[in-house]
Formats: sequence, C-alpha cells, structure tokens
Amino acid sequence: MSNTPLKVAVIGMGGIGNTHAACHQEDELAELVCVCDVIKEKADEAAERFGVPAFYSLGEVLAAYPELDIVDVTTGGLENGSWHYEPVMQALDAGKHVLTEKPISNNIAEAREMVNFAAQKKRYLGCNLNHYFSGPADKARELIAEDKIGEQVYSLTKVGFNGSAVSPSIADRNSRWQLPYSHAKAFLTHPFSVMRHFSGDISHVQAFMDKPGVRRQSSDLMLSIQSIHVRFQNGCVGYLLSQRGDAHFGLGGWWSFELAGAKGTFCIENCVEKLTYWTKDKQPEVFDTGITDFGATFPLRIHAFLEDVSNGVPLEHLRASGRDALATMEYIFAAIDSYESGGQLVTPHALPAFHGDVNIIH
Ligand SMILES: NC(=O)c1ccc[n+]([C@@H]2O[C@H](COP(=O)([O-])OP(=O)(O)OC[C@H]3O[C@@H](n4cnc5c(N)ncnc54)[C@H](O)[C@@H]3O)[C@@H](O)[C@H]2O)c1
Repeated sequence: MSNTPLKVAVIGMGGIGNTHAACHQEDELAELVCVCDVIKEKADEAAERFGVPAFYSLGEVLAAYPELDIVDVTTGGLENGSWHYEPVMQALDAGKHVLTEKPISNNIAEAREMVNFAAQKKRYLGCNLNHYFSGPADKARELIAEDKIGEQVYSLTKVGFNGSAVSPSIADRNSRWQLPYSHAKAFLTHPFSVMRHFSGDISHVQAFMDKPGVRRQSSDLMLSIQSIHVRFQNGCVGYLLSQRGDAHFGLGGWWSFELAGAKGTFCIENCVEKLTYWTKDKQPEVFDTGITDFGATFPLRIHAFLEDVSNGVPLEHLRASGRDALATMEYIFAAIDSYESGGQLVTPHALPAFHGDVNIIH
C-alpha cells in the first residue's frame, strides 16, 4: 500500500458532497485538496467549513491540481443522477480515478458509456453503493463463506421511506422527483446492489409499479411503489418491495433483507444495526452492532474505495465498482420494461465482459 495519502477533490457540495468531504478529511488514506460547486455560495461555504480552496468548475480543479488522484462526484440532478455523466467522463478523460454517487446515471446509455470509458482508460470507477458497507453485511458474507447458509433458496428485500398515503410529500413541479421513474432510478440501485452482493447476478425480472390514489389525484408523476420479482443466476428467487413515503413499513422497518438457504437464514434490519441468524436446531443468534445511524455506511464505503486505490487492486476487483452500479441500473431498466409491458418477464441487458489483466493472469 502506498503511504502517501491520495489527493481528492469533491465535486458538488450539496448535503452529500459535504458528507463525502468530511469522510475524506477524517480518513488517513486521503487528503481533501479542494471542493467545487457550480453554485459559488455552496462551494465557498464548504471551502470555509473544510479549510480548503473553493472552485466553480471541474476544469479549474484539474488545471490547478495536475497531481490529483481522485475526483469524487457528488452531483445529483434529475432522478438524482443526470449530473454525474459529464464530470465523471471529464475526470476519467484527464486520467483520474473516480468515485461517483448513485445512481451511476439515470440514463442507461450514459451509464454503459461511463463504465466502458473507465475500462478503456484503465482507471478505477467506483460508485457509492454504501448499503452493504456495514458490520451486519460483513457478518452475512462470513456466514455465506463458511457455508452456513447453504444453497440459496429465496431473498426478501423491503426498503424505502416511511410515510403515509394520507399526507405524502407531493414534490413541486421543478423537483428532481417529478418524473415517473424517479424513485425507481434514484433509489432501487441500493436494494439491487445489496441483493447482488449476496446472491450474484440477476437473470430474470418482473415488475409492477404504482402510486396511491392521493398521488394520482394531485397529478404527482412519480410511481412511488415498486413490487419486483426476480430470479438469480444461482437459481435463488427474490422479491423486492420499495415505496417512497406512502405507508409505514411493518416488520423490519425501513430497511430489511432476508436471505434463506438450505442450511440457514439471516435477516439484516436497519442496514447497519442488526443481523439475526436462524438454523434448524439452534436458538436464533443475534449480532447487534449497537449502531443505528445509517450515516455510518459513508466513511466505511469511502474508506474501502481509498483502500482499493491505495492498494492498486486489479481494476476488476474494485469493491462497489461502476460495473456493479451498472448492473443495478440494468435491473431497474428491466423492471421498467416489465412494468411498461404489463408485467412481462424481462432478461436484463448483459454486463460488459471482464477480459482479465495480463499482469495478473498467467
Ligand atoms: N448513497 C447514499 O446513501 C445517498 C443518499 C442521498 C443522496 N445520494 C446521492 O448523492 C447525490 C447528491 O445528492 P444531494 O442531495 O447532495 O444533491 P444536491 O442537488 O443537493 O447537490 C448537488 C450539488 O452539485 C452541484 N453541481 C451540479 N453539477 C455540477 C458540476 N458539473 N460541477 C460542480 N457542481 C455541480 C449542484 O450545484 C449542487 O450543489 C445524488 O446523486 C444522490 O442520489 C446518495
């Protein structure tokens, strides 16, 4: 591992950009060199908070720091992803490694291009798929590796936002949420990334989407409920339910994931908080982290990216890579296709192939 901290610039100083900047500043593997936002006040405010220079375009950042290692893109946009493509491509073109927020892009053609371009440039492209950077997720992977789950049978995922159909927060017409698939594209990348982390690639997708009557009556465009049935390549079947503020979640609250196998079953609740493991002859074992704040995933995920870049891992071994993020978007677009065709079974578009590295494969 290199001992010199990686020089990082954060692009897009909204709430999440500020969270990332704080993570870099507290991580010994990183040196936050500057912050950047096209809105001057946001850049200036963050610059003051972190004690680093402010910039107002990525071009200026790249010119000022030729030795920069990482561009961390925390812009948002329509469906929370339309402002990622441009800075990500510009940074890769300049030879920088890139971490971007999710969804990698709300546009599938752009997402594919970003992943291909990173591979062509031989740069790391990571995505903040932070929901599986947690103690319970590590514990779950341990259970799988120790063959304590066995052949996978089913998975159940419920995740979204608690609320009430009686008083949903109908967004204003200029909001990033006023598109039919805004919840699906902005958010389902998280549960799909968790499902794929534990069970691998998904081969079949079937979806229903809807919104409660109160949203319909107020002409809210967003389809706020997704009910998605999948099959994994390993033969396991899975179900994903997500909704954005239309109802209160029951068992498991806002975030629960259960994976059942022939030898044992685990369920993670509240993402970072708790894992329970059941097996045939024993009392359930509970692994409780005592952590309840979901924000704990950010420093863990960002540290993993810094660690992978510092260690120079093979490009294809990067954790939560652009390709992993693309996989989730392919599933989301397959779900949209299925919904638009009345619930037909859809095969997601294939992911780009791995070709291997001549320095590693002999
Ligand atoms: N991983 C998670 O848990 C999680 C949680 C919430 C949000 N997010 C993601 O984080 C991202 C940011 O969310 P947010 O709520 O902070 O968004 P935001 O809109 O509040 O902030 C984005 C900022 O980027 C700036 N910007 C846009 N284009 C730019 C460019 N080319 N160069 C420089 N600055 C630019 C905007 O001016 C804005 O200040 C979104 O993609 C969202 O999906 C992730």
